[in-house]
Amino acid sequence: MSHIKNQPLNIVAVSGGLNTPSKTESVIQHILDALAEAIDIHVHFIKLSEIGPLLGGAIYRHQLPQQVQDDLAKIEAADALIVGTPVYRASFTGLFKHLFDFVEQTALVDVPVLLAASGGSERHALVLEHQLRPLFSFFQAQTLPIGVYATDKDFTPEYTIQSEQLKERINLAVERALPILEWVPAQGLRAEWAKQKSEQANANLGINKQIEQADILPSPNRPHAETSEQPQKKSHVA
Ligand SMILES: Cc1cc2nc3c(=O)[nH]c(=O)nc-3n(C[C@H](O)[C@H](O)[C@H](O)COP(=O)(O)O)c2cc1C
Repeated sequence: MSHIKNQPLNIVAVSGGLNTPSKTESVIQHILDALAEAIDIHVHFIKLSEIGPLLGGAIYRHQLPQQVQDDLAKIEAADALIVGTPVYRASFTGLFKHLFDFVEQTALVDVPVLLAASGGSERHALVLEHQLRPLFSFFQAQTLPIGVYATDKDFTPEYTIQSEQLKERINLAVERALPILEWVPAQGLRAEWAKQKSEQANANLGINKQIEQADILPSPNRPHAETSEQPQKKSHVA
């Protein structure tokens, strides 16, 4: 499968923050801005502070308003995700999880996911590793090695970021993400495939139903040493 080059990377950001303004949204926006400085991206930003009230009560995708169904389809078609949540009771917010409960379970295989969270306490920084990473491991997504955690004191009263350390962490997370995003699986080719998945999921799936794990989008053609544009290993000449 060939990659479509010279197209913006289709990034979908999801914030589990329920308040406006939101520290979580601010962190995600910062990550997006840093990413946009480095590479060409197209962004769709889904905010639970906006769509949260539309989710409650729905247990089947077809019960969701069209706006949320469209958001789910965009998550399933993304080249890469940036996800963030406030820490609520040592985990992601319930509505953040509820949204991902509707995501078709094979749709995110191999998709790079940058993890972020904001909490009141530094002691909950491992929410990235103990809550968010396992959720996206379930989806067989490619969680990126460096996540971003912020606490209340990193922000001004207007919720802009005042901490230089946090800004540095964001820059590091983006820097480390770039080589992985360079080889994003099926870049630009997920949309049509995901559309079929979404239609199927919209028609059939409640949050307690699964479809068989067949028909997964093939893993990326990662460059082998022989075909890579990277400098080749010198071969031994007899
Ligand atoms: C219901 C609730 C539960 C919370 N639980 C925690 C918690 O367990 N650990 C923590 O560090 N902060 C906790 N907080 C604080 C928020 O995670 C923190 O203020 C966060 O930055 C809010 O993000 P937001 O501005 O995007 O809404 C909680 C806040 C609320 C409202």
